[in-house]
Amino acid sequence: MTREDQRPPAAVLFDALGADYEKAFAHAPTHLAALEWLIERLPPASRVLDVGSGTGRPTAAALVAAGHSVLGVDVSPVMVELARRQVPEAEFRHADIRELPLEPEAFDGVCVFFSLLQMSRAEQSALLRRLTAALRPGGHLVLATVAVDVEDVEVVFMGQPVRATSFAEEDVVAAVAEAGLTVLARQHTTFTPDHPEGAPEPHLFLHCRRDTGRP
Ligand SMILES: C[S@@+](CC[C@H](N)C(=O)[O-])C[C@H]1O[C@@H](n2cnc3c(N)ncnc32)[C@H](O)[C@@H]1O
Repeated sequence: MTREDQRPPAAVLFDALGADYEKAFAHAPTHLAALEWLIERLPPASRVLDVGSGTGRPTAAALVAAGHSVLGVDVSPVMVELARRQVPEAEFRHADIRELPLEPEAFDGVCVFFSLLQMSRAEQSALLRRLTAALRPGGHLVLATVAVDVEDVEVVFMGQPVRATSFAEEDVVAAVAEAGLTVLARQHTTFTPDHPEGAPEPHLFLHCRRDTGRP
């Protein structure tokens, strides 16, 4: 087994893509609209966790520009390096979110933009529960994914082979509800990445709030 085989597949994939990912995706209108939705609901000077923070753009950049403090976590060292350079006002940590301890109720907002797809279904559900616990009651979480019923299938993404796992839309919604989040809005879109091998992708965005436990 080579050292590359032992690294998380997401780290291998996104180290290879680096800034090309941002070029292909950062202008996606539904992503920008989800950020706007979150920013409208965050109290001033909020603390926001960005799970799979990529190059820091557009997510961390928009949040710091709105006056919030951001912790971005990414398993790809190339992405973390790019994000630190591009958004120096935010903090970026190189870590696998599945293993990173999270303080309860530490964040006012959480972003999860397309960062679950190299995790098993059980890992995605467990992470959603941990992220909800890390959000203060009444805080908001935005989740974006490719909602298709696939488990550990080989795909070619922007020219790179990778295995992907996801849920059909109603199962994503059920996992989010089971974690303790209320879905306030759903957006669907078909987006074609700006890349020579980009194919149309069905994107699902869920705009959620952590239940307060109060009626
Ligand atoms: C599709 S990219 C999206 C980047 C960014 N969220 C955006 O939408 O612009 C997914 C990112 O999640 C990161 N990622 C995937 N699995 C992760 C994990 N287990 N822990 C931390 N980061 C992860 C990848 O390295 C990659 O940078």
